[in-house]
This record gives sequence, structure tokens and C-alpha cells, in this order.
Amino acid sequence: MAIIYHEEKKLFEIRTERSSYLFGINGNGTIQHLYWGEPIAAAESVDLLKSRSHSSFDAAVDREAEEYGGWGGANYAEPGLKASFADGVRDLQLQAIGHTIEGEEALALHLKDAHYDLRVDVRYKVVGRHDLIERRVAIRNGEAEPVRIEQAMAALWSIGGLPDYRLTHVTGRWAGEHQLRSNLLSEGKKVLESRRGFTGPHANPWFAIDDGGASETAGRVWFGALAWSGNWKLVFERTTFGGVRVAGGVNDFDGAFSLAPGETYESPVFVGGFATGGFGQMSRALHQYEREEILPARGPRKVLYNSWEATEFAVNVRDQLALAEKAAQIGVERFVVDDGWFGERHSDRAGLGDWRVNAEKFPNGLEELIAAVKGLGMEFGLWVEPESVNPDSDLFRAHPDWIYRFPTRRSTPLRNQYLLNLGKPEVKHFVLDFMTELLSKHEISFIKWDLNRTVTEPGDSGNADTTHSVWNRHVANLYEIWAELRRRFPHVAFETCAGGGARIDLGILRYADQAWISDNTDARDRLTIQEGFTYAYSPSAMMCWVTEAPNGFNGRSLPLSYRFHSAMMGGLGIGANIGKWSEKEMAEAARYVSLYKEIRHLVTDGDQYRLASLRDSNIAAYQYVGRDGDEAVVFAFLQSEHFGGSERRLRLRGLDPEAVYEVRGDDGSEAWVRHGSTLMHLGLPLALRGDYASWLLRLRRIGESAKEA
Ligand code: DGJ
Repeated sequence: MAIIYHEEKKLFEIRTERSSYLFGINGNGTIQHLYWGEPIAAAESVDLLKSRSHSSFDAAVDREAEEYGGWGGANYAEPGLKASFADGVRDLQLQAIGHTIEGEEALALHLKDAHYDLRVDVRYKVVGRHDLIERRVAIRNGEAEPVRIEQAMAALWSIGGLPDYRLTHVTGRWAGEHQLRSNLLSEGKKVLESRRGFTGPHANPWFAIDDGGASETAGRVWFGALAWSGNWKLVFERTTFGGVRVAGGVNDFDGAFSLAPGETYESPVFVGGFATGGFGQMSRALHQYEREEILPARGPRKVLYNSWEATEFAVNVRDQLALAEKAAQIGVERFVVDDGWFGERHSDRAGLGDWRVNAEKFPNGLEELIAAVKGLGMEFGLWVEPESVNPDSDLFRAHPDWIYRFPTRRSTPLRNQYLLNLGKPEVKHFVLDFMTELLSKHEISFIKWDLNRTVTEPGDSGNADTTHSVWNRHVANLYEIWAELRRRFPHVAFETCAGGGARIDLGILRYADQAWISDNTDARDRLTIQEGFTYAYSPSAMMCWVTEAPNGFNGRSLPLSYRFHSAMMGGLGIGANIGKWSEKEMAEAARYVSLYKEIRHLVTDGDQYRLASLRDSNIAAYQYVGRDGDEAVVFAFLQSEHFGGSERRLRLRGLDPEAVYEVRGDDGSEAWVRHGSTLMHLGLPLALRGDYASWLLRLRRIGESAKEA
């Protein structure tokens, strides 16, 4: 791992364990990207470092691969920065005026406009062991007048030299997030974005690009993820002269802002990486990076119970106590009361914003329930939705001016609620204060922080902070609130939720320990959602619940074993009405919870291998291998059996070929003893029959080499 500046060649070299990333300053003064891929001898790339013109229509072809540039001159590719100066000039000429290298990790390129004192620091932080580079920019206005910033991307990535470029990303909707898509990019632009004020379920700010031939296990993949929970934009531009450029950052749509004299704008981080071992290796690199660098939580997730699907808004101390007793019986470690505990919250029509305990539902306050939950050996957790307000609430009656709105317009209610303008200092204080009071007064160990609507009519807050648009102020203040709450209450774990998985990204995951990834709790639908989630995000943050059969969303009845297997592949939760479960169901659930506790370190800290996907067969299988390689767990799911055909075998991955493993299924069948090589290449017969069948296998290393077996 190294950052080297080859002075005589004006060449920058970033070396990670398995990649070279090269750019240099060409004769035009353009900072030209040269190469990103397998390690090469950097100096030998220097013949690429030249300005290039095709015709008066394409006079600066080299700028299509600019490492970071502004809109100005003959640049027509998506720019990093677009700005207008106070005198009306809207042309940028960013020139390299120096750089700083700090150790093996950090590089900053210092750019400045040729005339105006507008400076851009393009920053790189190398996470070499995962072949990742974090990029971001800081833009400083040294002029005596404000500068209007119309677009400020966090990074531009260039990928060149492939015969084809295939983009893999996710799309989705409420209760159907993280659906994978792959398409070839032809010339022109493909834009993924959110204009809804938060990350959104419709797309997620990460991407993977390969040459069309990469698979789960092999092939070169370039990928990246943006750490921003507000309006974001990723532009994939296949340029006329053969490369692909990925520009990503805060969405410029309705996002222009004024940078006052002396002020600096800091972009979010956009991390990029390169893998040669296909999409699986890409995901494992991101998972490890998130666990080591991003997520506050370390170690396994607690098994939780959440009462939402059981009681919805009809929350009261008696029913919650009954559920808590049942939850404790099956081994739950954290009991969470969802929506409905506060104000006049009997439905989604009222009460949101009135964060006082409802005295009819909890005549002795929350303490009675908390004490009982703790007495049962569990932690207590609570749901909140601090950014929203129902018009029918004391908060709204007292502060109708706290919501987003334009003076001459009605605000659009969604789920019967408005969104508070978190950019207003008084709103930010209100949220911080009530959360502080809640967490100081009660022994709460877990907060599920929800958001159930998009932003509309984003009328300005009148805040004097000019470095952020209205949209961005919301996110910046949200991050500050979470950071402050984490400082004040270090023992409290936080979950990000936005009507399911609509606010999951590397920005919020710096503050959230875990994520509620979808309201859709059908265990089969979840396989697809969970698989898409794990392309970019770690299973350690992925919360999954076991709920009722038939499922409330699609009426599908799945065996309890299937529902557990599906939910045990991330952080396990129970969201069913366990008050109604039979003794047999309770006993089976207790067995699975206890089994989960034995294997969860593999799920949350191990390496995940996606063995088979329902996207291309009627089998799904996922394997998690412990970091020391001594243990593994496999989950396999059969969609529907076809009679005849060849015998199905499950080939495992990530094992030591020489080692001998004992393999035990949770169906009571006899254990196998097999070499790693056999398990990986010949595989095991897949003992699944019928429809919606599932299987859990545990592997334990019992011998070191073939000779010992
Ligand atoms: C949406 C969440 O995703 C659900 O789990 C639940 O908390 C409801 N909101 C409560 O209103």
C-alpha cells in the first residue's frame, strides 16, 4: 500500500494490495486519469498522459477522463464542479497548484481556478487492505463575493479499456427494496438518483461496473458507494471516445447554494474499489470495510422482538407485558415497542410529534414495562419518528411553521403527516432535547429511528447557513443529532429505518448500528431483498424478522423453519404475534434462537458467499465462513421441486481444500465428513424436496490435512 508522486513524470500512483490507481498532470494542465485495475509498473503508463484533440467538436478529449474538473472551456463530460462567480462568469479553469501526501494513506490535490480564488482540494484516503479508495472534495471560496455552487460532485471515477461496460445496481419501491438490475451501458448517460430528500427505496447510491463477463466468483469489477442520506446522484456516462465516467455526489437538482467568502463546502465521501474475483469479492470487501471503518457496532447483533406486526398501534402495557414474557421464553435479548406508545397515537392519523408516554396505554409510565422486560433478562428498545408530525398533534398546533412549506402553497400530507424542517435550529434542538429526555429518563438500550414519507415543498428554513441547500441542511443536521445522541448515550444502539429500507447508505451507517431493510417480511420475498442488500451492505447490519404465516403482505404461508432460516442470515428478529403461537411453535422458535446464537458470529463477522441465487435457478444458497476458517454455516432454499432432472449438488466456497470438515444439517440427518476440496468441487447432495423447503448446514474443521483424515 503506497501513495507515490513520480515528480519527473507528473504521475500519481496509489497502490492498494491488489490494484493500481494512476493519474497525472498533462501538458494542458488537465489532471488526467490513466489507469485503474490490476497492479502495473506505474511509470510505464506515462505514454497515456497527453492532451488529445479530435476536432473542433471534440477539442479536449483528454477531459473526458479528468480526475476532477470543473465545467468550463471545451469540457462537455459530466463535470465535478459547476460554479458561477459574482461577476457573472460561469467558466471554471481548475489548475493543479500542489499536493500533500500524508503517510501511506492520504493524498490531497490542491486545485485553484486560474483567475478566481476558488480552491478545490480533491482528497483520497486509501483503505489498501480492501482495495478501496475513499474520495471527497473540499471547496473553499477565497473571493470577497459569494460564489454560487451549482454542482459539486464528491468524485469522478474513470474506467477505461473495456470492450463493454455493464452496470449493476438496485432499484425498488416500498416493501420491495434492493432489487438487482444489470444493463450494458451504451454511449450517453444513465442516471441513478434520489430527489425525495432521503436515500430512497427506488435506487441506492452504489454501483458495480464490469465488462459484461464478471460473475459471482470471477471477473474484474469496479464499484463504489456514496455516503449520503439526502438527495444524491450517480451519473454513468459512456463517452464517445470509449471510456466510462462515474460522477457521484449530492444531487445538483434544486441543490444550488451560495458559498460565502471564506466558507468551505465539504462533500460526502464516495468510496471506490476494484476486485478481480467477481461480485462476491466486491461484496466481501465492502462488508469488511463497513464492519471495520463505518458501522459503530462491533460483534454480533442481539436477537430482538418487535411488536409492530402483532399489535400495530394498539399498544398497551398489558399486551406488551404478555408479549415480553413470551419473547423471553424463546430467548429474545431485546424487546422493542414500536409505533403507538405516545401522544394520541391510535392510528397513523394523529399524535406524531407528541413524544410523551400515553397515560391510558401506560398508566404507570414506561417504567413498569421496562422493569418487567429487564426482569425477564432483556434490554428495552423503543420506536421513534422524530422528523415527522401529524397535523392532528399538539406539536403541529403549537408550531405550524416548523414544517417544510412554501408560503403560497399547501404542504402535501403523506401517510397523514408532514415533515419537520430539521434545518431550523429550533427544530433541531427540539429533536435533540426530546430524544435526550427520553433516553435520560428511561433505561432504553435501543432506538429504531423511522421516517415514513418523502420530502415535498422544501421551502427554505430561513437559516443563515449558506453552505447547504435546504435539502442538505436536513441531512447535515440529522447526522449531527445522531452523532450527539451517540456521544451522550454510548450504550444505546440505533437502527435506521425509513418505512423499511429507504434510508440505508454509507452516510447513515456511520451512526446506525443496524438497518431495517424492508417492511416486507415474507421470508421468500426477503431472499431477493436480502441478496440485493448484501451486494453493497454487510449482513451484520441487515435486520430480518420472523413473522406470521400466512404473511400479512402476500398471504403466503411458509414453514417456521423456512422463516427462521431466511431471517437467520442477518440480525435475527421476531416480529410475529407470538402470543398466539402454539407450544410446538414456541419450542421450535426457541431451538432456532438458540442455534442462531451459536452461529451468529459467522453471519455478522464472517465472509459471505452467495452460492446460488433465485435470480438464475430455483435454488438460493448462502454461506458464511468464520474469519479463522474453522467454521461455516450454509442456508439453502428450494423454490419449487421439478420432477426428474439431474441430482442437485451444493458446491461450497471459501474453505481450506486440504482441511477436513464435519458437516451437519439441522434436519437431524447423519453428519458427513468431507475434505474442503470435495465440498467445494464435488459438493453435497442437496436434500431439499417439495416447495419452499429450506436447510441449514453447519461446518466444523476437524482435521488439518488430507493425511490426518
Ligand atoms: C414503518 C416501519 O418500517 C415499520 O416497521 C413500523 O415501524 C411502522 N413504520 C410504524 O409506523
